[in-house]
Amino acid sequence: MSSNLGLVDDECSWWWYGHNNISVYITQVAAVSSGTALLLAVLVVCWWVSKRWNKGGGPTLPPGPRGLPLVGNLPFLEPDLHRCFAKLAQIYGPIMKLQLGPKLCVVLTSPSLAREVLKVHDAIFANRDPPLVAATMTYGGIDIVWSPNGPQWRMMRRVFAHEMMSNKSLEACYNLRRQEVVQMVKEVYTKIGSPINIGEVMFLTMANLILSMLWGGTLQGDEKSSIGREIQKVMRETIDLAAKPNISDFFPILASFDIQGIERKAKKLLSRMNHIIDPVINQRLDQMDQKEEGDQQGADEKKERKDFLQYLLELKQRDGKASLLTKIQLKVLLQDIIGAGTDTTSTTVEWAMAEMIQYPEVMRKAQDELEQVVGMDNIVEESHLPKLSYLNAVVKESHRLHPPLPLMFSHCPSMSCTIGGYTILKGTNVFVNVWAMHRDPNAWESPLTFLPERFLSDSNNNYDYKGTNFSYLPFGSGRRMCAGVPLAEKMSLYVLASLLHTFKWKLPDGVNLDLSEEFGIVLKKKTPLVLTPTPRLSNVKLYS
Ligand code: HEM
Ligand SMILES: *[C@@H]1O[C@H](CO)[C@@H](O)[C@H](O)[C@H]1NC(C)=O
Ligand SMILES: *[C@@H]1O[C@H](CO)[C@@H](O)[C@H](O)[C@H]1NC(C)=O
Ligand SMILES: *[C@@H]1O[C@H](CO)[C@@H](O)[C@H](O)[C@H]1NC(C)=O
Repeated sequence: MSSNLGLVDDECSWWWYGHNNISVYITQVAAVSSGTALLLAVLVVCWWVSKRWNKGGGPTLPPGPRGLPLVGNLPFLEPDLHRCFAKLAQIYGPIMKLQLGPKLCVVLTSPSLAREVLKVHDAIFANRDPPLVAATMTYGGIDIVWSPNGPQWRMMRRVFAHEMMSNKSLEACYNLRRQEVVQMVKEVYTKIGSPINIGEVMFLTMANLILSMLWGGTLQGDEKSSIGREIQKVMRETIDLAAKPNISDFFPILASFDIQGIERKAKKLLSRMNHIIDPVINQRLDQMDQKEEGDQQGADEKKERKDFLQYLLELKQRDGKASLLTKIQLKVLLQDIIGAGTDTTSTTVEWAMAEMIQYPEVMRKAQDELEQVVGMDNIVEESHLPKLSYLNAVVKESHRLHPPLPLMFSHCPSMSCTIGGYTILKGTNVFVNVWAMHRDPNAWESPLTFLPERFLSDSNNNYDYKGTNFSYLPFGSGRRMCAGVPLAEKMSLYVLASLLHTFKWKLPDGVNLDLSEEFGIVLKKKTPLVLTPTPRLSNVKLYS
């Protein structure tokens, strides 16, 4: 972990992406295997009991591999869950059932089944099953990501979509993004000729971009960066907590002792988070009061730059007592943006860069396009982005081969429901294996080849980020699909375009490219991508 740039290493996913508890369970299997003989005896008894139970009639559950009692299929899973699920689906079919510890899971691996869950029965499946740490950090799951389908969730999503993700709002905070991208280019320029860790630089850039849009309108300089560092520290500890193996998660009898321990720690982290965010909000409220007085005296000359915090507070003030948005919801909304927006976008750029190193022809074409659209005596602006059709295709192809959320978030039906002829019980965790669907030879020609051109052909232009074609779902589909698509698209493209336009990139001598992936809440590169930049523009002024 580099000290100056990287505050957080590979594991910097966020706690409310914590449905990662599956991989947690897997690590827990190690703990289970060291269990006592007594435990084994209990297992055997339970197994017989459960076998007898299953003899009776009842709903037809999807097929799936046989598991052990209590732990279910956990002992047989491999850490790369997306791959493991894809392999199992070849045996058990596109709808299969797995028992992961206490959780009943169903994995879908076909466009038509995904459509049934995300479109036909969207309302029933538009719920989540937040794990303990995520629930604690979000006051019981009241944020956008973890709320159940209902009026509160709808209200927050509407606020998010209309107040923050609208064209107008995103344009209003363009300068905040621009400032961070210019800063990134400047920083990379100081490292010319030496290898840099792309994932780390991207993570920091995206975190800065997000935090800047949240409250960068007034918060600047040292204060801003110390708050950024502190937030990332809390985030890191939360991930550690969420990912810590603990045997008692398997055995509900023990759980009551342990869960309290985890909950207590999560509460502590939440209180630290509050210590960071509360002063920022209060300071802004004070400023807004002062400004009001200033306006009355007609003496306000302060240049205003609108950030997300400003939108939310103004909305709350405008509605006054009638405001549906509580202060706590406002805070978890800010947390959601940080959690959902940082790791996903930085991973996207890292994968796209890695693929372009593997296919230099693709990088050359992308850079040629930049030369044409932006010009060699200019830097990339967001207004250029819609004209970069080849680069757009590169990002789309990167989302296809390396969807940042390979299993999306789990969807949880509010009542039992029949899908593909099988019953999915209420409360089941339903995963859509987007990763496998994006590599399905029935839907894609040469599925394993990185080929941006496939998104340029006219017949394929129904692959978008809106989830209209169920063979391509990097952002999900339906009412629970990613709420941040407009921003995610802008950020990934803008940062990638700036990297490619201002620098040439190559692997350091003697280093081989490794494209293997590592399953996590966010699908990362197993080994970090390290590349050496050299300047591409001759005008030195463009780097400062
Ligand atoms: C490359 C970047 C991103 C990818 C690939 C991505 C993908 C996804 C996916 C697959 C989901 C779950 C969909 C489902 O369960 O059906 C999701 C949910 C969500 N994303 Fe993103 N996302 C990205 C960036 C962002 C950004 C930048 C933000 C915020 C500014 C954001 C905010 C959210 C929120 C709030 C949800 C929860 C929506 C809900 O439950 O109603 N995402 N995202
Ligand atoms: C927002 O901007 C995009 C592209 O800049 C455009 O396609 C879209 O129609 C706009 N949406 C609204 C609501 O103006
Ligand atoms: C796991 O369990 C032990 C004992 O049951 C407990 O002391 C420990 O704090 C737990 N782990 C976490 C992460 O809380
Ligand atoms: C997705 O788009 C492709 C290419 O246009 C098309 O062949 C396919 O039928 C579409 N799939 C779905 C499920 O709409």
